[in-house]
Amino acid sequence: MTKPSILVSRAIFPEIISKLEQHFRVEHNQDDATWTKQQLAEKLKGKVGAFTTGGERIDAETLAGNASLRICANMAVGYNNFDLDAMTSAGVLGTNAPDVLTETTADFGFALLMATARRVTESEHYLRAGKWNKWSYDMFAGSDVHGSTLGILGMGRIGQGIARRGAHGFGMNVIYHNRSRLSPELEAACKASYVSKEELLKTADHLVLVLPYTPASHHTIGAAELALMKPTANLINLARGGIVDDGALAAALRDKQIAAAGLDVFEGEPKVHPDLLTVPNVVLTPHIASATVPTRKAMANLAVGNLIGFLIHGKPLTPLNPEVLAKK
Ligand code: GLV
Repeated sequence: MTKPSILVSRAIFPEIISKLEQHFRVEHNQDDATWTKQQLAEKLKGKVGAFTTGGERIDAETLAGNASLRICANMAVGYNNFDLDAMTSAGVLGTNAPDVLTETTADFGFALLMATARRVTESEHYLRAGKWNKWSYDMFAGSDVHGSTLGILGMGRIGQGIARRGAHGFGMNVIYHNRSRLSPELEAACKASYVSKEELLKTADHLVLVLPYTPASHHTIGAAELALMKPTANLINLARGGIVDDGALAAALRDKQIAAAGLDVFEGEPKVHPDLLTVPNVVLTPHIASATVPTRKAMANLAVGNLIGFLIHGKPLTPLNPEVLAKK
């Protein structure tokens, strides 16, 4: 019997390709070529499944002419690269990779928060540039993390992981805002108090963004929101580019409207707003919050589990639009 054909859209651990090859005919991209949307649509022709990352847009245009496609398995918890409505209309299942990256991403949230508050990268650049020739009382003096107020916008699994670290590890006062309030049990576990978005913006010493990106969350933080924040506050974006208006943020950082920012995600990444590159009080990392070897392997394995689960056994592990299954 011929094996079903699938596409792997980006380079991935070789062991993942080997696992997939046990079940499928695999067209891969181990050279990690950058495909245009049109090239991706071409490559999908005749495939029943695709292993995708957050960088590949799957929408009506990509799906047109790809009637054989049945599943796109994203190696990411976020899935704003999927137009789920278009996928559902085309009968294509989408899956993501939740849970396996929660703790690693929450760790990185703290790494970025600490680096931002304590000016780690800025001071390292200074040292490497040979500018350090004497001690001084206010050299790279930043803000305290322990005992400060940690604000979290978006209190899903990763937000809760960050809250637990802040409350239990650093004795922080944790406040949060979310579309829906956590249960009293979860609030107690995170030692977190629910506040309005306005109070969150006005009160947080460190504001961490971990909400999903949707049309409704576009520019959740813009000039008006930045104006509400304390001049001593730090903003951390771990969520997605587009949630913050990066141009407005660069202006707020330049004008010292807020103290500093730590950004792992950017509007239009891998491009970065040029003004962000010119302000010193921002820590910039290239979308690496989930990037540890064990976690990236776990994410890839979950995408593999979804492809095998659905295409071979009829049971995906983490379906996003299960209504597609009901239609079958
Ligand atoms: C990373 O950004 C993810 O969504 O997994």
